[in-house]
Amino acid sequence: MTEFPPLKNDLILRAARGEKTERAPVWIMRQAGRYLPEFREEREKHDFFTICRTPELATLITLQPINRYDGLFDAAIIFSDILVIPQALGLVVEMVPGKGPHFPSPLEEPADIDNRLNKKVDVYKELGYVFDAITMTRKALEGRVPLLGFIGAPWTLMSYMIEGGGSNTLSKSKTWLFKYPEESKRLLQIITDVAVDFLIGQIKAGAQMVQVFESWGGELSPHDFKLFSLPYIKQIADRVKKQLKDDAVPMTIFCKGSWYALESLSEIGYDTISLDWTIDPAYAKSITKGRVTLQGNMDPSILYGGDEIIRSTVRTMLEGFGTNERYIVNLGHGILPTVDPEAVRVFLTTVHSVGLELNKN
Ligand code: CP3
Repeated sequence: MTEFPPLKNDLILRAARGEKTERAPVWIMRQAGRYLPEFREEREKHDFFTICRTPELATLITLQPINRYDGLFDAAIIFSDILVIPQALGLVVEMVPGKGPHFPSPLEEPADIDNRLNKKVDVYKELGYVFDAITMTRKALEGRVPLLGFIGAPWTLMSYMIEGGGSNTLSKSKTWLFKYPEESKRLLQIITDVAVDFLIGQIKAGAQMVQVFESWGGELSPHDFKLFSLPYIKQIADRVKKQLKDDAVPMTIFCKGSWYALESLSEIGYDTISLDWTIDPAYAKSITKGRVTLQGNMDPSILYGGDEIIRSTVRTMLEGFGTNERYIVNLGHGILPTVDPEAVRVFLTTVHSVGLELNKN
């Protein structure tokens, strides 16, 4: 195992483990991204996936928000993308500026599983660059904050692999679910197997907590969520924790839109559940009953509304979730690219000041 500098701020790890914290820790999904001018500057020089594949660049960009908001973030998240798993499985993915991910030839029919996918993925060979980036970033962080790793969940990745990019209806991937359910489950299992190895590799490389992104969970009915999402995200938590034993780290599940699944999500082995902004804190707490840590959930667009609404929303959120136990502050989804970086500073300083204030009462 690599030696890393000692950790100076472990708030987020304590919150995830259910220990008391002096204030609620905070980070933001997509905190290293296009709202930062220093990110856009690097992005003009390099293609998106070149950055992901070059540990020095991934490290530089992961640290950008940590340096800019010195001392205000309580975690860093490794710069990468959920779509590196489809790439490892053999599909070509491009990142088109202003449009998002594009697969020139997505999966079209179940026969493509056998004809086109690399089904024996050696994650050290195909995704070793992510492990190298994690080890390098963890050293460069010098213990300032913990480093988070992440993956996309199987259903979300399957959708991208079939839709070929973003989609409003997911009609192609849903055609697979409803016309070819057995073949769909086979594909979901293939993705799950890679996801397990990939997360274990990230943790061995130095990730101190990990998040699973089921960004398209809310596109499924509760019934279909139980068939096509839940078993696979459960399997990921079970297998990662079982294989790592004492080296396991806290795991977070983010199922955007799956409010109906909150109870099941609190029973499948994750330490933390990340919530979108459609869920009220009191409701989430009443369903999960302190079994897990909750994370979230400010509407990212509040950051467009000016200082006053940012401050009042943060206060209401902290009052709702509680500030010293089983709570991590975040947005309810990724930060949007046109947000003013100074609005993020207002958000972060308010989380610190109101968090400390409420804890004294
Ligand atoms: O949070 C972080 O700072 C770490 C980096 C990170 C990125 N993508 C960088 C990125 C993380 C955790 C992701 C996860 C991701 N990627 C998700 C799950 C979270 C979610 O938003 O639901 C998804 C669905 C993707 C796939 C993806 N990547 C999309 C749909 C897009 C285009 C939309 C967009 O916001 O641009 C991306 C591109 C992407 N991933 C960018 C960044 C910084 C912008 C790309 C660019 O610079 O052109």
